[in-house]
Amino acid sequence: MSEKKLLLRALAGETLPVPPIWMMRQAGRYLPEYRATRAQAGDFLSLCYTPDLAAEVTLQPIRRYGFDAAILFADILLVPQALGADLWFVTGEGPRLSTIGTEADMAALKPADAIHETLAPVYETVRILARELPRETALIGFAGAPWTVATYMIAGRGTPDQGPAHALKDENRPLFEALLERITEATITYLSAQIEAGAEVVKLFDSWAGSLGGADFEAYAVAPAARIVAALKARHPGIPVIAFPREAGEGYVGFAARTGADCVALDNSVSAEWAAAHVQVSGCVQGNLDPRHMVTGGAALVEETRAITRAFSRGPHIFNLGHGITPDADPDNVQRMVDAVRSR
Ligand code: CP3
Repeated sequence: MSEKKLLLRALAGETLPVPPIWMMRQAGRYLPEYRATRAQAGDFLSLCYTPDLAAEVTLQPIRRYGFDAAILFADILLVPQALGADLWFVTGEGPRLSTIGTEADMAALKPADAIHETLAPVYETVRILARELPRETALIGFAGAPWTVATYMIAGRGTPDQGPAHALKDENRPLFEALLERITEATITYLSAQIEAGAEVVKLFDSWAGSLGGADFEAYAVAPAARIVAALKARHPGIPVIAFPREAGEGYVGFAARTGADCVALDNSVSAEWAAAHVQVSGCVQGNLDPRHMVTGGAALVEETRAITRAFSRGPHIFNLGHGITPDADPDNVQRMVDAVRSR
């Protein structure tokens, strides 16, 4: 048992004296070495599709901080691109995509099994990482959950309230559901290929799950995640899955049981005490330090890190931020967080 990587032990339900730690967006612009490699690649998408450089930026935070897990460097929006959407990034603004609003747009998308043509370089990145990571570091693959990916494909960009996706859902539900279905199939295909290339864990990012209420949350957050988890576990028995229905609130309760996920990642809008009592009681949780602490630092960073570790100390826990680290973060604050977790 002690041979097994810490992250995998927590995912198997073990309560550990010191939780494994990694960080959402750990390879990113807050690191000078990331900015240098990104400049070498030219732009963000070239970085994603150049296996040597994508592997390099994945390894950078592992070298610097010795995290217990590395997350493949890629993006959730590569799947829409592989399905035939146009994708580009506007500096200082974010992603832009061609939109899906009509049956003709939907008919122009490629079938799910055509994604490998575009995504083959990502699998090569995974193979490089499986060879080069330290033996104690777990490798996490990932994809966006269907609802979150659909919000970008429908709006053609990030939106504060996912308005265009909600509008399509209400005005043309068959088209909306056909799109979710295509993304679901592509996600199963994509994550299976990542696992075959060497990913040991996969994570589903449903960043906009919080805007789905009631029956919509069941139909478009819970049900697609359950289908993806079941398909992956049928093809790859024992593969652990982390689900992140961000800002699900009460929806976090029972989410793992209903989807078959091994761990639920928590954002920082729920308190660790509440989550320990209502979510961790049924299994492993990941989270949930406010990423602002990586900018502001100081005594509050150490106190809050310790408070979260303490709140989750009676069950399986993976320490992480509640959302991605931001470009204005201070790399020294990340080290302070790692030290506070490991020096309990
Ligand atoms: O280190 C890691 O966490 C692995 C790589 C990773 C990226 N994006 C790299 C990235 C992961 C897991 C993601 C997931 C992702 N991408 C999500 C889900 C998680 C979340 O943040 O809620 C979403 C919604 C996206 C879509 C996306 N990609 C947006 C909205 C943006 C622009 C906003 C921004 O932060 O610039 C991106 C770009 C992106 N993805 C960057 C990185 C490192 C910044 C690109 C750059 O270098 O300029």
